[in-house]
Amino acid sequence: MYYSADIGVFGGSGLYELGEEYRRVDADTPYGKPSEAISLLDVNGVKVAFMPRHGKKHIYSPAEVNYRANVDAMAQLGVKAIISANCVGSLRQEYAPGDFVVTDQYINMTSGRKDTFFESPTVEHLSSAEPYDEKLRQFALEEGQKMGHVMHDGGTTVVINGPRFSTKAESRYFGMIGGDLVNMTQYPEAYLCQEKNIPLVNIALVTDYDAGLKDNPDIPPVTNEMVVQVLNDNTEEMKNLIFRLIARIGSEA
Ligand code: ADE
Repeated sequence: MYYSADIGVFGGSGLYELGEEYRRVDADTPYGKPSEAISLLDVNGVKVAFMPRHGKKHIYSPAEVNYRANVDAMAQLGVKAIISANCVGSLRQEYAPGDFVVTDQYINMTSGRKDTFFESPTVEHLSSAEPYDEKLRQFALEEGQKMGHVMHDGGTTVVINGPRFSTKAESRYFGMIGGDLVNMTQYPEAYLCQEKNIPLVNIALVTDYDAGLKDNPDIPPVTNEMVVQVLNDNTEEMKNLIFRLIARIGSEA
């Protein structure tokens, strides 16, 4: 591709723009069109490529997002790191709405998503044991702590197909199998970045307690309104953290 960028950012629900772009790149890939044209921004000398994974008008549901096209477009720009932002439901009391989690693991419970670039005749088997880059994770944690935001070091996200939220039984089961959080988009985006060899860090905003907590009958099951409210209350903080992280990655590169 003619254009290039240093760092890619995938925005999730509520994060549809990052700042003033100097160019929009209408990328095309062998896997089809990405969710949106990529916005190129100059953040204090660091070239940033931003894409809202659901599209600017949120027209793609989590299962409809063309993750391969989105990641391939970032790879074509030559980004050296990707920051992915999303929202998550919590399966444990200690991860409270409004907190940020720099997740370190996921459990894939999606189905039917195109989740590899390695197709015939290029068959490869990669380790996905550590899906996120540890150095970038520590940068994100440190920058978030400097901002005074509640930050969690690590968390396992169970990724479901959606668009529906989980039943109480499913939610309890996800907790039993080791999940701390639940979300609809972390897979296959994270793994596809690994296939492209692009270090990735995920910052998840806790928006709700999913179907409620077993030991706390006062917590109601998630509604879309709840999610939107917590998103709106925290989008500026998320953007600030992303900007700080961009500066940090830029200065340590
Ligand atoms: N994203 C935000 N909250 C969620 C939940 N409870 N389940 C799945 N995805 C979510």
